[in-house]
Amino acid sequence: MKNYFDFKNSNVLILGASSGFGRVYSETFYDLGANVISLARNHSKLKKLKSDCKKKYTGGTIDIFKCDVNNEKQVNLFIKKIKKKYKNLNVVIYCCGCNVRQLFLDINLKEYDNIMKTNYFSAFNILKKLYPLLKNSKYSRVINLTSIFSTRTMQKRTAYSASKAALLMLTKSLALEWCGKNFTVNSISPGPFLTEINLPVLKNKKEYKKMCEKIPLKRFGNTDEIITPMLFLASSNSSYVNGADIIVDGGWKIL
Ligand SMILES: NC(=O)c1ccc[n+]([C@@H]2O[C@H](COP(=O)([O-])OP(=O)(O)OC[C@H]3O[C@@H](n4cnc5c(N)ncnc54)[C@H](OP(=O)(O)O)[C@@H]3O)[C@@H](O)[C@H]2O)c1
Repeated sequence: MKNYFDFKNSNVLILGASSGFGRVYSETFYDLGANVISLARNHSKLKKLKSDCKKKYTGGTIDIFKCDVNNEKQVNLFIKKIKKKYKNLNVVIYCCGCNVRQLFLDINLKEYDNIMKTNYFSAFNILKKLYPLLKNSKYSRVINLTSIFSTRTMQKRTAYSASKAALLMLTKSLALEWCGKNFTVNSISPGPFLTEINLPVLKNKKEYKKMCEKIPLKRFGNTDEIITPMLFLASSNSSYVNGADIIVDGGWKIL
């Protein structure tokens, strides 16, 4: 049977790879034989990711890059380095994200600015710079991690929701402008998962219970449960899926 999820010799760049989804995606693509490029700010976590990959799987290859996506100088240096080492990229996954849960009147402009930059603007900026590496590949996939808060919201999520709505529309706009020649752009919108970004909620039992009540499955997702939607979108065989947004939320958005 044809292997629809063969990533051998595919170059897969994961931005925001030191924890949560990006870490899980780095391990998964490595296990599936890809040449993985993992980027984040925390170098010791990236080094641990690399050594875990080598210990656990026979895998492909993995390169790690310490880079703050909001720092233009670091971004340009990173782009220069990968252009030198990799002639092309097949899959780019934008997982960088942060959140500050504050009421609109309490959130300050510095916090707002950091959320908008990390969750949206830096994707805009970096994808522009990565286009030359994507455009001539045998197949190209861009997959952005948006959120169910890109299309709905709740209290204390003004900045986060606005940033994710912007990222969702960036995804759809690029799906129009860049599609063709086995080049697609899509997104995944998760509901709440058990990752570091949610630590403030997970540490607050009352808040955690309140959020679980909103979810038909009555629980947060595990990172294992976000892998297959990504493999589906990243596969070279998913060439007619473009501008789609896969919701992985335990049913939250039904209500
Ligand atoms: N978990 C959820 O419930 C959920 C729900 C909906 C959407 N999402 C989205 O999914 C994505 C991944 O989230 P996650 O749950 O995996 O959270 P996470 O564990 O906190 O991971 C976020 C990643 O982004 C990186 N990052 C943050 N700021 C960065 C910067 N300035 N430069 C470079 N890397 C940066 C972090 O690495 P460093 O700190 O090492 O830089 C980390 O690797 C995010 O966009 C998030 O908004 C998550």
